[in-house]
Amino acid sequence: MSALFEVYSLYDIEPVSARGALITDKLGMEYLDLYGGHAVISIGHSHPVYVNALKAQLDKLGFYSNSVINPLQLEMANKLREQSGCKDYSLFLCNSGAEANENALKLASFYNGRKRVISFQNGFHGRTSAAVAATDNRAIIAPINSQHATSILELNDEKSFLEAVSRNEVCAVILEAIQGVGGLDEPTASFYKLVEQKCREHNIVLIADEIQCGYGRSGLFFGFQHHGIQPDIISMAKGMGNGFPIGGVLVSNKFESKFGMLGTTFGGNHLACAAGIAVLDVLKQEDLINNARKLGEQFHKDAAEIPQVEQVKGRGLMLGLEFGFEVADLRKRLIYNQHVFTGSSKNKNVLRILPPLNISEQHLGRFLEALKKELK
Ligand SMILES: Cc1ncc(COP(=O)(O)O)c(C=O)c1O
Repeated sequence: MSALFEVYSLYDIEPVSARGALITDKLGMEYLDLYGGHAVISIGHSHPVYVNALKAQLDKLGFYSNSVINPLQLEMANKLREQSGCKDYSLFLCNSGAEANENALKLASFYNGRKRVISFQNGFHGRTSAAVAATDNRAIIAPINSQHATSILELNDEKSFLEAVSRNEVCAVILEAIQGVGGLDEPTASFYKLVEQKCREHNIVLIADEIQCGYGRSGLFFGFQHHGIQPDIISMAKGMGNGFPIGGVLVSNKFESKFGMLGTTFGGNHLACAAGIAVLDVLKQEDLINNARKLGEQFHKDAAEIPQVEQVKGRGLMLGLEFGFEVADLRKRLIYNQHVFTGSSKNKNVLRILPPLNISEQHLGRFLEALKKELK
């Protein structure tokens, strides 16, 4: 029996170092990383600004709790406000995506005193209790999580949405601007607008789950910004720390904070903030969000020319290629024959492409050539 509690099915690859969009394994084989370890690597592996910031912080102070002044938190919150354009929001820091959503849902329920959460089919919001109950995957909802009142509706179905909100018992609506795990489907702009409007009318809290599509991945800082929406709470993680475990919620100024209302031991610690600040600095200095948008547009055009590709999905560098067959075997061949990491999704026909936001055009071209070879 393994000393590890085995819950992951593993590829037989052992990475030992990485730089930019390239990973090297223990045999010295180089892989092109078009998956970023589940959309986590935003500014590239081992970016020197990031590495130096973490090393320097570790030499000074790695951790202290939230019972003392930590100016790095404020620096990060101010930079986040400025770079995201979300000036009327305040930041609460935690450690992961699920924890960000759990806190978002808790805040919503404190705010309006209600319990029911509306989420959408093929949505993924994490594995903690309220977050997993809102996730459309029965297999990961344990009996202890199923106590939550949730309505998982069809995405873009206005009728079922209007019916659900009319009961005046809804606490929050949570949705991704681009579904990650689900397979790159999106709410239409008109559906997202309707959701925003009805949330305002019924005092329902609108939560934008930007854990995967946020932090520049979609070609704008946040995915909901493609639709001109103003959510009440924005949850973030993944690209925020480029691999350092950090999550957060941006809370609009309609919520009043109270001491003790939310809390965490590790969230917002010094080392996490150093990572988060370095990510924001590099995103800005290297104009990576524009890079993501431009490369994404080019990728859409190039990938659409491959005859087996039925649809190119997503925006920026949050991309999916839909085929007329299941991609599990193709993914394996891309890894073992072509040395390219890609991702899967709940939609078994979609290959997910989530490279670092500073990947080069040449590397994307190399992937498309590798893909064509494996499709022959
Ligand atoms: C949209 C979305 N929300 C929440 C989560 C959960 O994040 P974490 O795994 O950091 O808890 C994920 C993870 O894939 C996600 O894609």
